[in-house]
Amino acid sequence: MPDTDVLRLRGGNRTQGTISIRGSKNALPKIMVAAMLTSEPSRIGNVSWIRDTQIVGEMIEAYGGSARRVGTELAVEVPDLVPPSQDVLGDLNRRSRIPVLSCGPALHRSGEAFISTPGGCTIGARPVDFHLDVLRSLGVVMTEAEGGLRLTAPTRLRGARIELSYPSVGATEQFLLASCLAEGDSLLTNAAVEPEILDLIYVLQKMGALISVETNRQITVTGVDRLRGFAHDVIPDRLEAASWASLALATDGEITVSGVRQADLATYLNTYRRAGGEFAASPDGTEISFWRDRSMLRPLALETNVHPGFMTDWQSPFVTALTQADGISVIHETVYEDRTGYVAALEALGANVGLFTECLGPTHCRFGRGNHPHSIVVVGPNKLQGTELHVPDLRAGFSYVVAAAAASGLSTISGIDLLDRGYEDFRTKIAAVGIDID
Ligand code: EPU
Repeated sequence: MPDTDVLRLRGGNRTQGTISIRGSKNALPKIMVAAMLTSEPSRIGNVSWIRDTQIVGEMIEAYGGSARRVGTELAVEVPDLVPPSQDVLGDLNRRSRIPVLSCGPALHRSGEAFISTPGGCTIGARPVDFHLDVLRSLGVVMTEAEGGLRLTAPTRLRGARIELSYPSVGATEQFLLASCLAEGDSLLTNAAVEPEILDLIYVLQKMGALISVETNRQITVTGVDRLRGFAHDVIPDRLEAASWASLALATDGEITVSGVRQADLATYLNTYRRAGGEFAASPDGTEISFWRDRSMLRPLALETNVHPGFMTDWQSPFVTALTQADGISVIHETVYEDRTGYVAALEALGANVGLFTECLGPTHCRFGRGNHPHSIVVVGPNKLQGTELHVPDLRAGFSYVVAAAAASGLSTISGIDLLDRGYEDFRTKIAAVGIDID
């Protein structure tokens, strides 16, 4: 039997081909949770059939609903919501961070919810304190229980004014999913405004919610009494699109991504060009081809940030490509304190990279005073040589593929199943762009 968790990859080929991109991994699961706010059926299109979709489908079934594949769409229906046992929820929480977002629907429809330690990729501590603050402000009562926190809503949740100390994507989604059926108005300041959040807002609007996104990261919600079913096509995955673009950059290849939205990639495209990459977009911006504009890439200084900044999820594949730049690149990660673990793998492949705990960028971020190695210096260009690697998290996993494809010789990458969380059919796709794999 072949071991699907290990990928043997021979680098050195110039990648070439077209990859079609489907619904965003970070939008779809939240839209599935939104469908739990109503007893009516909903239809979701442009679905990526990845592991996270499957886990959230299992969660919906655990709540007594159904999430079925119907042709290319997902049909979700939760006629009666019955919270699962704490053990079942605890298990789902260990596999993904999404179940923590089911609190809003569960509290509105059954009066109770449970939160245990959430899972997901190992990148930083990833606490849920902002989520708890949001729920408490809306009137949720919390008591400690074995393995987590038991949440109850003694009365209907009530609108509140809440300020996030950091524009967290998850906490903003928690706010939206919990406040849209609360009594009265709610205001969230310092909210995250990522395209994936706007997509969730458009879904909730289709369902009958009253939500406005204002300037200065403010979101106001006027609670309504009931929500209805919806039909919605998920926005394309801008993280997957950028991953393939970085692969083209690192391997001096030419890769076209189709089914994307140029607007969601605007910051990435600017940075791509600054680094010596080039691209051409179709008139409607749904198809973009990427290639290198010069034989040697240009080094640059880069800082990750919340939208509209350079996304943290774009960081590791792009920085891997910067090992092929002629000079010193400096990267400052400001969203997660621990998203630089892949650098050790780049070193193992022969890259000249260093990690620093100081903030090497214009922002004095939250991690500057801790002992977090969150800045990277790459001294290029580097000749990479294939080696043995083990995948620690989703985006790092893709960057290992990028690095191994840019290296000469054979690399063996274990833990590769982690990529199934966020990349649909990725083994087929990497073979389709000309990477030589077992
Ligand atoms: N944070 C807290 N307390 C909280 C919540 C967050 O301190 O209660 C901190 C986090 O530890 C982190 C920062 O706030 O340092 C940002 O976290 P955020 O809540 O914005 O992230 P998330 O909702 O947990 C989503 C995506 C991530 C993506 C980030 C940032 C999903 C399922 N995950 O995570 O995607 O990196 O937003 O855009 O939507 C990925 O796709 O590989 C991935 C990890």
